[in-house]
Amino acid sequence: MKIITTIKEIREALKKERKKSKTIGFIPTMGCLHEGHLALMRRARKDCDVVVVSIFVNPTQFGPSEDFEAYPRDLKKDAEMAEEVGVDYIFAPAIKEMYPRECLTYVNIGKITEVLCGAHRPSHFRGVATVVSKLFNIVQPNFAYFGEKDYQQLMVIKRMAEDLNLDIRIVGILTVREEDGLAMSSRNKYLNPKERKAALVLSKSLKLAERMVKNGEKNLKTVKEAMTKLIEKEPLVDLEYLAICDSISLKDLLEIKGKVLVALAAKVGKTRLIDNIILEGD
Ligand code: PAF
Repeated sequence: MKIITTIKEIREALKKERKKSKTIGFIPTMGCLHEGHLALMRRARKDCDVVVVSIFVNPTQFGPSEDFEAYPRDLKKDAEMAEEVGVDYIFAPAIKEMYPRECLTYVNIGKITEVLCGAHRPSHFRGVATVVSKLFNIVQPNFAYFGEKDYQQLMVIKRMAEDLNLDIRIVGILTVREEDGLAMSSRNKYLNPKERKAALVLSKSLKLAERMVKNGEKNLKTVKEAMTKLIEKEPLVDLEYLAICDSISLKDLLEIKGKVLVALAAKVGKTRLIDNIILEGD
């Protein structure tokens, strides 16, 4: 496995691979890798000849009062984990390499970035879409892999790829969970033991929604109220939003019918966590 830090070098290396007609699978990450990331890499390893992982904590997707500085960084450990699952290249640029001067060009995606997390993190998806576009232009992959834990991000990237006619297959991979149900996230590292325990209420509330819908509940308000009541029992958890919406357009629904997304964000202590589940109402 090669670790490359410049755009010039990664472009040259991948150009050689493309000349040999190799397919390229790409996993953009911000590092602090966990089993969720490794699942994306394993899938890319199965699908593609060459697997590229980027590790870049992207400043443009963090708000001014968010955790950009504190975001956990450990390239050595990340590289060991990536190598173990058969990654061929890590692209780990410095900020100056990706943003050598003031960035005047951004990728803005409408509507689906204005709801859910986008409503609470106003420039977040603009930063994500811009950096992912830049990385796509640098790596020029055939396939790119994203976790469903960041479901809205996956939908935003899919929409961007469609709207801009990118010749890249965007593949979503199921959320990987700890044994007790907590969705894997780099930010779980911030949780102290009490918060870690309290955070379980998030996946439990999604399971509750799943059970209710399986038992025939169609009333969105009833499901939301039951979930909120459960979450509010946990004093360390402060619910930011809870939404039940169309799984593609992310628009509000009147009732639970067809494929619906149940998504939430909450602060557990000072840590913001997100989770979601896709349910099938009949
Ligand atoms: O999901 C992430 O880790 C980031 O948002 C991404 C896609 C790597 C863009 O910085």
